[in-house]
Amino acid sequence: MNLILMGLPGAGKGTQAEKINEHYDIPHISTGDMFRSAIQEGTELGQKAKHYMDQGDLVPDDVTTGIVKERLGKDDCKNGFLLDGFPRTIAQAEALESLLSGMDQSIDYVLHVDVPKENLEDRLTGRRICPECGTGYHVIYSPPKQKGICDKDGAELIQREDDQAETVTNRLNVNMEQMEPLLDFYNKKGYLMTINGDQEIDHVFQDIQAAIEKP
Ligand code: AP5
Ligand code: ZN
Repeated sequence: MNLILMGLPGAGKGTQAEKINEHYDIPHISTGDMFRSAIQEGTELGQKAKHYMDQGDLVPDDVTTGIVKERLGKDDCKNGFLLDGFPRTIAQAEALESLLSGMDQSIDYVLHVDVPKENLEDRLTGRRICPECGTGYHVIYSPPKQKGICDKDGAELIQREDDQAETVTNRLNVNMEQMEPLLDFYNKKGYLMTINGDQEIDHVFQDIQAAIEKP
């Protein structure tokens, strides 16, 4: 099964991707996570991406498409994949189409996790992540058992650089502008499924399951 998860920053793509990955055992490919690892490792890719990410802007299409191409070429993607946060522009969507047709593959579903913009600032500024295992939390909606500490490994939680209030507004605006034409693009192709992301995390996942397992 080849899936794409779309949604504005904070809509819950990463949260749902963890669940989809556990349940369906398909690799979770997040361009945002790939860029953050590259920044942490100090690679050339990380240096290219950091400037854009810190401002809440998109990383240029050629850079982003390049890393996805490399990742989709790995063996573990042969039986399906879950793209999270890619494509984000029409140019990326077109590049993906030609990449997949070259691999004799196609997209099954594009899941749009839909949340009103007004709710997203809170979700982003309240998000905390574990630097060790990558698990995401929210100070109010999904808090760890012990404040500021990862439930899984006891590591101290951190806030993402681009979740600072100053950057969040630009991120939301940039992504909203790019997402509308992309939703239209996938709707016309018949791949688009809209999922109500403005409900409890487990209910969102139930709706995702119902959408992809419907006969
Ligand atoms: P990326 O890492 O993809 O960030 P994003 O799209 O801004 O999305 P987020 O990770 O912030 O949100 P999410 O939807 O995953 O929400 P989450 O599940 O964590 O990209 C970062 C940057 O990289 C971009 O800004 C760009 O610069 C660059 N980039 C990446 N891909 C690119 C591309 N294709 N092209 C160009 N540039 C690219 O949830 C958020 C919070 O809400 C959490 O605290 C969570 O616990 C909570 N939450 C989740 N679901 C619920 C719920 N149902 N109810 C209540 N709280 C919830
Ligand atoms: Zn952890």
